[in-house]
Amino acid sequence: MKPAFRQLHPLFAAEVEGIDLMQLHDPETLAALRAGMDQYGVLVFRDQSFTDAGQLAFAQRFDGVLHSKTGISALGRNRLNNEALSDISNVDEEGRIRQTDDRRRMYSLANRLWHTDASFQDPPGRYSMLSARVVPPADADTEFADMRAAHEALDAKTRAQVDGLHVHHSIAYSRQTLGFEFSAEELEALKGAIHPLVRTNPRTGRRSLYLASHATRVVEMPVPEGRLLLRDLMDHATQRTFVHAHAWRAGDLVIWDNLATMHRGRPFDDGVHRRELRRVTTLDIAAEPA
Ligand code: OGA
Ligand code: MN
Repeated sequence: MKPAFRQLHPLFAAEVEGIDLMQLHDPETLAALRAGMDQYGVLVFRDQSFTDAGQLAFAQRFDGVLHSKTGISALGRNRLNNEALSDISNVDEEGRIRQTDDRRRMYSLANRLWHTDASFQDPPGRYSMLSARVVPPADADTEFADMRAAHEALDAKTRAQVDGLHVHHSIAYSRQTLGFEFSAEELEALKGAIHPLVRTNPRTGRRSLYLASHATRVVEMPVPEGRLLLRDLMDHATQRTFVHAHAWRAGDLVIWDNLATMHRGRPFDDGVHRRELRRVTTLDIAAEPA
């Protein structure tokens, strides 16, 4: 079956109708969806009925090896007992809404900063697949920014300046900028990774700015100059013309390419409304999907 892509934003993001991903095994359709990822960077599928096991299996069929060294695993095991399944929710083991000062809640608040998933690892994350199980009655959107368009829109001088630079990414850093405190042991587990500031999709040749709030410094520059450059690039890349907001419905599965896009969660009344999503992220390695 040939999937039809309905573009959602002038630059990127598309919705695909009529596919049940839990049941999808057909290699041609899977390949067409991967090509769609390369083109659109974000794909939205409505009315999916994922179980946790079904989501994990689909992610491996679609893109191979799963990321499981999540930042939050340094804080202890998650309630889903599988670190490849990230608990993107505001509820605890007993299903109660987490208290304001709950450590996991505070850690997760940093998802509201612009970021890419698993840029603090090497290899980093490629595709993230976020499944909405319970959504609040109030808006709690996720926003995406097209980092290919952001790279293309740089002025010639900045485009030449960023070429060849490398950035250190640390998940502890993005949390520390919000005042979150880690133990020495936790910090030891979260040392981070270095990646090029401009990365190229090997299949399309398109280049992207590879940025995140995890970015601590530019390796080739003095720390303050590097941080100023990173802030300017972040301001540039998150201009509204590059941003698409996804309004969640229960049953949505959204897949995004962490090379082509950045994302952030928008604030909502998380002490009042339950919001439960599950994320699986694959590793950006050349291996063929299973
Ligand atoms: C994520 C993430 C934001 C949100 O799942 O990786 O950043 O809106 N989520 O929940
Ligand atoms: Mn994320």
